[in-house]
Amino acid sequence: GGRPGALLLLGVAVLTSCSSPQSALDPAGPSARRLEALWWGLFAVSAVVWLVVLLCIVYALVRRRGQEVKPRGGGTRAVVVAGLIIPTLVLVGTFVATLSVMRAEAEPPDEPALTIEVIGHLWWWEVRYPDFVTANEIHIPVDRSVRVELRTADVIHSFWVPPLTSKTDLIPNMDNELWLLADEVGVYRGQCAEFCGAQHAGMAFLVIAQPADEFDEWMADQARPAETPTDPLALRGREVIESQSCAACHTVRGTEADGDIGPDLTHFGSRRTLGAGVAPNDPGWLGGWISNSQTIKPGNLMPPQPLAPEDLNALIAYLETLE
Ligand code: CUA
Repeated sequence: GGRPGALLLLGVAVLTSCSSPQSALDPAGPSARRLEALWWGLFAVSAVVWLVVLLCIVYALVRRRGQEVKPRGGGTRAVVVAGLIIPTLVLVGTFVATLSVMRAEAEPPDEPALTIEVIGHLWWWEVRYPDFVTANEIHIPVDRSVRVELRTADVIHSFWVPPLTSKTDLIPNMDNELWLLADEVGVYRGQCAEFCGAQHAGMAFLVIAQPADEFDEWMADQARPAETPTDPLALRGREVIESQSCAACHTVRGTEADGDIGPDLTHFGSRRTLGAGVAPNDPGWLGGWISNSQTIKPGNLMPPQPLAPEDLNALIAYLETLE
């Protein structure tokens, strides 16, 4: 019938989601692995409790059919054991297991390779490395821990990379921290995990764990100011960014654009997504984003930019050279 079919579909959907880049059940670091073990432990305990209760109900239904109920001795003891002692033991056991994981989570894994600062904004992530600022994309060296200081520029957000860490809130006037540690090279998707308004769901980011040499190369590239483009179209794009309203909100280091409201665009072309993970970073999406990002991410704070077509093309060409 329809119901088993629907259940089967649901089961398939649940199981396939386990290998997504944003699954807590596909851990790639010690913190997420602890949480996964706890999750399966709680799942197993809940499943056993559910099964036992279900069997008792079935037993009671089957046994009592057509029979007269005779009071028997031992009823009070059964209620005390099954209704009080066993549930207390189960709840205390799961509570203690949870506390021990929480305690391990609060412990720094080792001497961090570096400390970065992540600042939540409506609805994107500012990422500050010691020598440069970027957005919505965090690179880390594999097998080394990175200490992350968490702050917010406006409301409460929550930093969550399910394959790597537990959630930690970004709270106004409060400094929080966590450690990112991936023991597998990979791209992990993170997501704001505290409802923060219209584009809460459009507040994603990537954590990219790289081998040490690739990471060092990335750090060196990002630290450099933007190069002067050789291509005339891109050069014209740089003039557009400096002369139009872009520069009021965005910084491109090495140019006159030095706004500090929106994401730093100095190495925009090196990023995989735009709009904090809502679209791939390619010329088509970028053109749509600049013209009217409200159609892609309604409510975001960037107003539409009605540029002349030649200016738009030049701007796209320039931004894509910023690698
Ligand atoms: Cu930021 Cu939800």
